[in-house]
Amino acid sequence: MKATILRLLVALLPLSLPLAAHADKLAMPADAPPAFLAECAGCHLAFPAQLLVADDWKRVMAKLEKHYGGDASLDEKTRLTIENFLIKYAGDAKKIGASGTAAGATELPRLTATAWFKRKHHEVPQADWRHAKVKTPSNCAGCHTRAAEGGYRKREIVMPDGKKWE
Ligand code: HEC
Ligand code: HEC
Repeated sequence: MKATILRLLVALLPLSLPLAAHADKLAMPADAPPAFLAECAGCHLAFPAQLLVADDWKRVMAKLEKHYGGDASLDEKTRLTIENFLIKYAGDAKKIGASGTAAGATELPRLTATAWFKRKHHEVPQADWRHAKVKTPSNCAGCHTRAAEGGYRKREIVMPDGKKWE
């Protein structure tokens, strides 16, 4: 009897795996250091590490004292812990593309500037990016209602006019 149940479970496993893989692909990895949420989710949400390539993350983390016009500096131990985590889960350059900012440029990389981000959002009307409820493309939660939990599924999107995307 036990063996039958086991065989049944094994048979069902391939069916459940693709579903699990589809759910919240950008969810926070279980081994995310507490410092990442404590230090990088106060001013904006904790951006998914997968959405920038490793080199771009290094450039973001090398300039925390001049962080997009603000100061997000950290002690070196915390900075390195967060940088190592971001690099571990960084996106694949072939899939995401670099941020588009030239190496050596004073401008910092933006995940909202990658080829992947632009492609995924090409149907979003320009006015929605500037809507008072959104203000900036990096305000993911302005449209993705479950962004803070890593939920970016289309059916969870509510546009600034209050309408569901689909
Ligand atoms: C003091 C507030 C503050 C803290 C703390 C902070 N940030 Fe930011 N961050 C900002 C602001 C402001 C922007 C620019 C937002 C914009 O222009 O849309 C920004 C932008 C970014 C962007 C670019 C988003 C885009 O436009 O694609 C990344 C990546 C980023 N932050 C990562 C981090 C990481 C990693 C940490 C933790 C080490 C962190 N931030 C901590 C304020 C902060
Ligand atoms: C102005 C609203 C808006 C903002 C702000 C926004 N998005 Fe989106 N996003 C959308 C819409 C609408 C779609 C679906 C587009 C489509 O159907 O092709 C989408 C699609 C996506 C998808 C693909 C979902 C899927 O199932 O294919 C991801 C991932 C995503 N966004 C991540 C982000 C991240 C990360 C941020 C912040 C850095 C962000 N978005 C900011 C509106 C927005």
